[in-house]
Amino acid sequence: MVRSMLNVDRRKFIQTIAAGGALLAAGKSAFPAEMAHGAASEANPDFKPDVEIELAATPGELPLLPGASTRVWQFKGSLIKGDPAAFQMLPGTALPVIRVRNGQKLRIHFANHLNEDSIVHWHGLHLPHQMDGHPMYAIRPGQRFVYEFQVDNRAGTYWFHPHPHGRTGEQVYRGLAGLFIVSDDEEQAAALPSGEFDLAWVLQDRLFDHNNQLVYARNMMERMQGFLGDRVLINGKPDFVQPVATTAYRIRLLNGSNSRIYKLAWDDGRPLTVIGNDGGLLERPVKRPYVTLAPAERVELWMNFSDRSVGDQITLRSLPFNAGMSMGGAATANGSAFPVLRVRVDRKLAKPHALPARLSHISRYRLEDAVNHRSPRTFSPAMGMGRVSLNGRTFEKMDEVADNEIVKLNTLEVWEFANDASMMMMAHPIHVHNLQFQVLERRADPRFAAIRDSLGAGFLDEGWKDVVLVMPGERVKLLMKFTDHTGLYLYHCHILEHEDMGMMRNYLVRA
Ligand code: C2O
Ligand code: CU
Ligand code: CU
Repeated sequence: MVRSMLNVDRRKFIQTIAAGGALLAAGKSAFPAEMAHGAASEANPDFKPDVEIELAATPGELPLLPGASTRVWQFKGSLIKGDPAAFQMLPGTALPVIRVRNGQKLRIHFANHLNEDSIVHWHGLHLPHQMDGHPMYAIRPGQRFVYEFQVDNRAGTYWFHPHPHGRTGEQVYRGLAGLFIVSDDEEQAAALPSGEFDLAWVLQDRLFDHNNQLVYARNMMERMQGFLGDRVLINGKPDFVQPVATTAYRIRLLNGSNSRIYKLAWDDGRPLTVIGNDGGLLERPVKRPYVTLAPAERVELWMNFSDRSVGDQITLRSLPFNAGMSMGGAATANGSAFPVLRVRVDRKLAKPHALPARLSHISRYRLEDAVNHRSPRTFSPAMGMGRVSLNGRTFEKMDEVADNEIVKLNTLEVWEFANDASMMMMAHPIHVHNLQFQVLERRADPRFAAIRDSLGAGFLDEGWKDVVLVMPGERVKLLMKFTDHTGLYLYHCHILEHEDMGMMRNYLVRA
């Protein structure tokens, strides 16, 4: 009875949730989780989209390895309205890319053709609570969810993936992920390489059985340490080779792996030139001997091949590092060395290319402007005894928030993630929904210096971030501002097995 009421009046219901902070904070549920569950949504005739997309999560098969094809789950879709570039598959792949401009209005009809619940989250986007793909909105097999929102993010490389509670890891692992690329005027003014010179590489590790089928987390150990494959796929392809011309490229990288950290370096020892990360372009390019890319993090590189010769090959590698605790078992442990992909120079091209000295403007938040600058909120990820938690709490109820998880709209806060409370010390990539934050400082426990130092030179704490890797023994302070939207949002570890086990919590933005 309750559910049918929601179907007719879901919009009003959603407004109530968004405004419903007071009730939640009092420890009562504004609504039982089952109420939202399965609620269908309909297009609003008053919303006039610039881009309209049909997007389905559906089972399929792909010829990934020689021999039998691999059963996967895929996003398949089509463009209903808008520029043809707004929805495409990355050339030669099964990986969808949505390309939009900041300020555009999108309507996305999501159809769940899996035989389990699902919902899509737009990772990194600043959206109203009800458009964020919170697991409370997971829809049943055969149902649809209509997203309508206006893009409100800087130009950058964002992404989307399913977010049903307890099933995110497996759904992403089986193939459900896509890129969400935003452009804007400031970025166009930087005149970076574009079109075929703007590349995207999505890094994901997978484990296959002898019949080419995907193998996923079989036991508690593989969940606790995060599931690791023994093959790296780039854009869904093994043994990936990128042909390039002798000119400059912009290269967007997403670590779409469930739990693997990459320590990326060119095999000829040249430094990497980084121009952007999670929340778009940096202020100016920076050089790194290697780049540390934790799950869900993005990085944008500028790479000039003009001094190369046709026939040259350059390998991008993941270098060895100390990952802290390991329970063993994985064929290729976190921290093992392996080649990621090869770039092959296959044609000459005389084309002007200049790396702009200045890429974008970023105003820094100041600690003294944070309403809680004297008393940062502290959150401790922990694991042990088959259980994971944040401040001792595990994600259980869809709408639960604790007192220290309630913030006020339009305030700047400092949050500290303290990875020192655990029996099992491992790095956790912490992600916050709804916003881009700035990394204020990292403080490391000297006892864990060896672990920290094996990855630390590759951190990109500049610019805007929505994921930060918190190393064992490390305390990381973030500055974040809660603007525009009230309601419940998630923060969690982006090791997807940890997230599914409940190293995830709501926070509530209250008016
Ligand atoms: Cu990329 Cu809550 O996720
Ligand atoms: Cu997210
Ligand atoms: Cu974790």
